[in-house]
Amino acid sequence: MITVTDLRIQFGKRVLFNDVNMKFMAGNCYGVIGANGAGKSTLLKAIAGEIDTASGRISMNPGERLSVLSQDHFAFDEFSVLDTVMKGHSQLWDIMQEKNAIYAKPDFSDADGLKAAELEEKFADMEGWNAESDAATLLSDLGITEDLHYTLMKNIDGKQKVRVLLAQALFGNPDNLLLDEPTNDLDLDTVTWLENYLANYQNTVLVVSHDRHFLDAISTHTVDIDFSKIQMFAGNYSFWYQSSQLALRQQQKANKKAEDKKKELQEFISRFSANVKKSKQATSRKKMIEKLNISDIKPSTRKYPGIIFKPEREAGDKILEVTGLSASIDGDVLFSGVDFYANKGDKIIFLSKDTRAMTALFEIISGNQKPDSGTYTWGQTITSSYLPLDNAPFFRSELSLFDWLCQFSNDTTDLYIRGYLGKMLFAGDEIQKR
Ligand SMILES: Nc1ncnc2c1ncn2[C@@H]1O[C@H](COP(=O)(O)OP(=O)(O)OP(=O)(O)O)[C@@H](O)[C@H]1O
Ligand SMILES: [Mg+2]
Repeated sequence: MITVTDLRIQFGKRVLFNDVNMKFMAGNCYGVIGANGAGKSTLLKAIAGEIDTASGRISMNPGERLSVLSQDHFAFDEFSVLDTVMKGHSQLWDIMQEKNAIYAKPDFSDADGLKAAELEEKFADMEGWNAESDAATLLSDLGITEDLHYTLMKNIDGKQKVRVLLAQALFGNPDNLLLDEPTNDLDLDTVTWLENYLANYQNTVLVVSHDRHFLDAISTHTVDIDFSKIQMFAGNYSFWYQSSQLALRQQQKANKKAEDKKKELQEFISRFSANVKKSKQATSRKKMIEKLNISDIKPSTRKYPGIIFKPEREAGDKILEVTGLSASIDGDVLFSGVDFYANKGDKIIFLSKDTRAMTALFEIISGNQKPDSGTYTWGQTITSSYLPLDNAPFFRSELSLFDWLCQFSNDTTDLYIRGYLGKMLFAGDEIQKR
């Protein structure tokens, strides 16, 4: 359990948030949401005690252990993969080191013998004998095969590191677990594994994520950071979103009778919990929602960006035809013989375990790269736009936000560009920032 009392965080003059008072209980998983820059990572760092400019109190129950998903991809370069995972439990790790140092002594005294016995006892209490096999199992579950377990961290690639650091955070069932965007760089299978792991986790978990499907699968509560306020709501993302929108609509209908409002909310709760999937981990979430008081449902003050797609002209039936497309990198075949036809109204998801294959396909159909063989044709009526995986080149510019956006628009009038940025929640002076 984590208790946050009167937390306030300030960077220079800017108060990120204050008056934060909340409790994070065991058995619950708290999904932390909010726009980019709202302060999600900062909240987690404050709870982990990594920020100096915080005031207030953060406390855990006596003897509890807190574990954090490390964001530092180089901190463990000189350690093996397996040791990096075990370092996640620092008390256990320290005992192992101390123990090994004593046994390695050439002049092993009686005092050393006593000390070693004492350490062995602590080690056994922490189930130290299972540490290596537990760490190895976690790694294998996360797709790090055994041949890599004794490799040094500096010799594995970035995506593998992310998985090892995740295993490190989960290692030894910490009482309190903080994960900041844990699904970044994971493939679909591993995300599904992590969903199950967290949904069945018995201790306290706080997870920051921008992925609402992931949040829906794991969270019992939603912590929303918006406009310098942090609010906690019962329920997962979808429940929070729908219930708080309903409460907001009710608030706006001032003349509606209180009993009618109550009834409508109660009906919403029953409908929602009836639709919760019937898996084991979903049952506890369902019970939680059924127990909920109507007074727990609060209207949301959150503002949403409005992304509105309006094509310049109505598209014809044929969108894209791809025939016999193949691509490779340095002789390594990424894909071959890819055929598909995209019709108007289709919504297509592309999946691959190899991101290079996906990037190559999109680079080819957007005309930036030549295929090894095959053709693609866009429909006559189609205009297209492309957000590449590596979008950094778009932002290497000294232009203000306003001028930057003008580059991509036919209509560059003040009214239109301001309006467009407004929909994306950029207001006032912000649009003159570079
Ligand atoms: N050490 C620091 N000094 C000054 N400002 C900081 C510091 N750390 C964070 N900030 C600012 O605080 C705000 C919140 O940052 P934070 O990283 O917590 O956002 P976030 O909600 O995690 O965003 P994202 O979704 O992009 O990860 C940002 O405006 C950031 O620039
Ligand atoms: Mg962040």
